[in-house]
Amino acid sequence: MSTSYTYAACLENAYKVNWRIEDVLGGKAFDLEKRWLPMSLSGASRIGCLSDEEKRKLTQVEMAAYAHLFGYVEEFIAPKISSLAQDHEVEGRDAFDALTNFAAEEVKHMTLFRQIRKRVDATLGFDTRLLGGQAETARFVLGKSTGAVLLLTAVIEWFTQRHFQEAFREDDALDGFTKDIFRAHWQEEAQHARMDHLETLRAFEGMAEAERERSIDELIELVGAVDGLLQKQAGYDVENLRRVLDRGLSPAEVREVHDGILAAKRWTFIESGTTHPNFVELFLEVTTPEQQARVGEALASVLGAVGQPA
Ligand SMILES: [Fe+2]
Ligand SMILES: [Fe+2]
Repeated sequence: MSTSYTYAACLENAYKVNWRIEDVLGGKAFDLEKRWLPMSLSGASRIGCLSDEEKRKLTQVEMAAYAHLFGYVEEFIAPKISSLAQDHEVEGRDAFDALTNFAAEEVKHMTLFRQIRKRVDATLGFDTRLLGGQAETARFVLGKSTGAVLLLTAVIEWFTQRHFQEAFREDDALDGFTKDIFRAHWQEEAQHARMDHLETLRAFEGMAEAERERSIDELIELVGAVDGLLQKQAGYDVENLRRVLDRGLSPAEVREVHDGILAAKRWTFIESGTTHPNFVELFLEVTTPEQQARVGEALASVLGAVGQPA
């Protein structure tokens, strides 16, 4: 439980699981005959008009976007954590060391995901279309209050845990290289989630009411911005899929594929985090019932009736 999290234990665990990029990528390759994403994180589980082979291809282009989106959000997570580490310098040695290492791990992850993008494109045989504008997005997010940025980051850190534990780990039909990548990421993210929890409690401790309200308003704004990015990437995923299919898609099929991909992304990148029990625990601790209702309404209007896939 959260109360037992400490910076010192996080750093100790971080050193235990620490890996090099070479350990993850060395001598390995993606297998085009396998699925690259678990069905529960893919639009494939929500689309009826594609054959099994076409669904497998869909998971391959979706994984390109999935890996890219982690690197994309790490562009703001790394500098935010690095600046929070400074609050602890000299006196808060454990926190300073653990948070500095956290930021350095995110820098490593960004490098990893850039290399994965190249490998994916080389394997698929074309340059997949993926979201750009990382720097603008990072600047936009970093302009928001610390409470909002940390809560958004907590959503992200906790869903990396859920995805591996509930989807990747048990999926025996999944491409082995993909599973290795997200196992490695999950191992280091486990400490990030706990430190994000500690930093969020610290940020909200003694925060004036007006500042709390601002954090919640900006969190809602950030969730809306994330959804805008997911909508854009869902369109790109359809384009990428059309490059790898052996047939054209009718306008009705394009719509069905697009909607299935977007619903899967909303589950994957928003709802699987906002409903994670550890995120819920943190969120309830730092907000009032009125603020919880406000965020709940905003989420419902973004997510509609997405839900967890069957
Ligand atoms: Fe990461
Ligand atoms: Fe992280």
